[in-house]
Amino acid sequence: MKNVACIDDLRSIAKGKVPRAFFDYADSGSYSEQTLRRNRADLEAITLRQRVLVDVSERSLTTTVLGKTLAAPLILAPIGLLGMQHGDGEILAARAANDAGIPWTLSTMSICSIEHVAEATGKPFWFQLYVIRDRGFSRQLMDRAMAAKVDTLVLTVDLQVLGQRHKDVRNGMTVPPDFRIKNVIDIATKPAWAWSVLKGKSKTFGNISGHVPGMENVNSLSKWTADQFDPALNWNDIEWIRKYWPGKLVIKGILDVDDARTAVSMGADALVVSNHGGRQLDGTSSSIAMLPRVVDAVGSDTEILFDGGIRTGSDMVRALALGARACMVGRPYVWGLGAGGQAGVAKAIDILKNELSVTMALTGVGNIANIDGRVIEGK
Ligand code: GLV
Repeated sequence: MKNVACIDDLRSIAKGKVPRAFFDYADSGSYSEQTLRRNRADLEAITLRQRVLVDVSERSLTTTVLGKTLAAPLILAPIGLLGMQHGDGEILAARAANDAGIPWTLSTMSICSIEHVAEATGKPFWFQLYVIRDRGFSRQLMDRAMAAKVDTLVLTVDLQVLGQRHKDVRNGMTVPPDFRIKNVIDIATKPAWAWSVLKGKSKTFGNISGHVPGMENVNSLSKWTADQFDPALNWNDIEWIRKYWPGKLVIKGILDVDDARTAVSMGADALVVSNHGGRQLDGTSSSIAMLPRVVDAVGSDTEILFDGGIRTGSDMVRALALGARACMVGRPYVWGLGAGGQAGVAKAIDILKNELSVTMALTGVGNIANIDGRVIEGK
């Protein structure tokens, strides 16, 4: 990972190594990608205050989230199909996060199953749940997560139906990739990727295949969501999930103050302010624009995590200053994984931590608890 200076470098390397269908899957936003762009633009529009001659020789990035100490206010977000960015991608990302002392979240839509990850890492991880029509299967997933010693359930609530990502349609994205059709030339130019995926533990949706009747041959995310995801999902479902799940419950996909209040009243231990990385409702507000409003409404009752457009440590400072307890990142570590497997994920984490530390120094702050509105111009 020499000569990699920033997250964007990891993206460029990943683009050359990962077949286009999977690179585009993670990279894209929904529809015309307005929300995807807004997440970045609104973060960049927040001006930090440069402060000088503060002794910042001792800086600490440690913090606590849901009662656990984290080496940095950073959580690796749930990402579908991670094992298609690099063989055994879920296991490699989990290991890099463990080494760095931060949580990693396994997606329901992962390639490696809950059991494979638990067996390969032997360490706790977070698990993200999509509730599907068959509530029994959702219970089974929670049982499997409990058996795997998952202590934190991240319930994603902003994907009852799938926002279309145009490139997925154009690329004809399937899992596993079809080695015979037009993708073959693309894949032939990515031999290291092909080898890593071929020798990986699983080549299809590991949590689902063999568990959901009729889903043995599921190969398309859009078909799977259309067939199985439940547009009728509503707050009553949160009630039974809260009763059923004994550990911490994090509700991800909150972008509205009323929804935030309801989620807290239903017993969520933390919320993630998120628009699914600009992959769902196109044209909605950026995550960072909504963060302070959600923090004002419920920040004293619950922990607020931030997700949406973080690419640098200075973005992290912006979100923490506006009241986030920690930041979730998705694409930065996906690109790290595609660029260099476990070492690439470790590099992404390192880059963000180093940039965070330098930004803290140059805004005159020595620890995470002291990052607040004072580091932002005009606050
Ligand atoms: C799934 O969560 C996706 O955003 O594709």
